[in-house]
Amino acid sequence: MGTDKDSQPNAYNNNENRSQHIIRSCTIEDLEGVIDVNERELPEDYPYFFYKSILDNFPEAFLVAINARGKIAGYVMWRVERIPAKNSLRLISKGHLVSIAVSTDSRRKGIASDLLATSMPAIEKSNITEFVLEVRVSNYGAVDLYKNFGFVIESIKKKYYRDGENAYYMIKTVETE
Ligand code: COA
Repeated sequence: MGTDKDSQPNAYNNNENRSQHIIRSCTIEDLEGVIDVNERELPEDYPYFFYKSILDNFPEAFLVAINARGKIAGYVMWRVERIPAKNSLRLISKGHLVSIAVSTDSRRKGIASDLLATSMPAIEKSNITEFVLEVRVSNYGAVDLYKNFGFVIESIKKKYYRDGENAYYMIKTVETE
């Protein structure tokens, strides 16, 4: 699937006063800027090929936020996981939030909310039954953000992070009509 930013339909300008930013699909040229934000804002870093494989496989839900100066102020990436259902061998698909981050100087302006609001419907098109994510138990701001989007804490994953911190496993069931 192409990642040419000019051909992507999901870019939009938000008109709110909170921030002047554009949400659009990530391109291969953006990866350096995405890695830059990740390395500044999160202790969990990934090698370049990991970002590239997410971009290759799930481009529809790999989005960037571009600020008024044309710089990458944030990103979000998801992947789809096929796993056996709880009580059968049937495979179900989950949308797993791989990573989201917003530069410190661009926070509390609605950027992460816009990234989630645009990426979640995109990953939902892969026929997922739920959205899932892990978040540090101390990351109150992110937990609040996810609750705003209907996520609930399903369980705690003990010592999930390399430094030994626990994670909340949060889920949001996809509503079927
Ligand atoms: N404290 C309390 N609530 C917070 C918060 C904070 N620091 N950050 C976000 N929220 C909640 C609030 O309810 C907020 O609404 P409000 O500003 O009207 O009160 C809502 O989420 C929306 O916030 P938004 O402006 O869309 O989020 P953001 O663009 O500032 O980005 C993060 C939020 C978590 C992505 C950002 O703080 C970040 O990049 N943190 C470092 C990386 C990280 O922790 N990523 C998540 C890993 S699981």
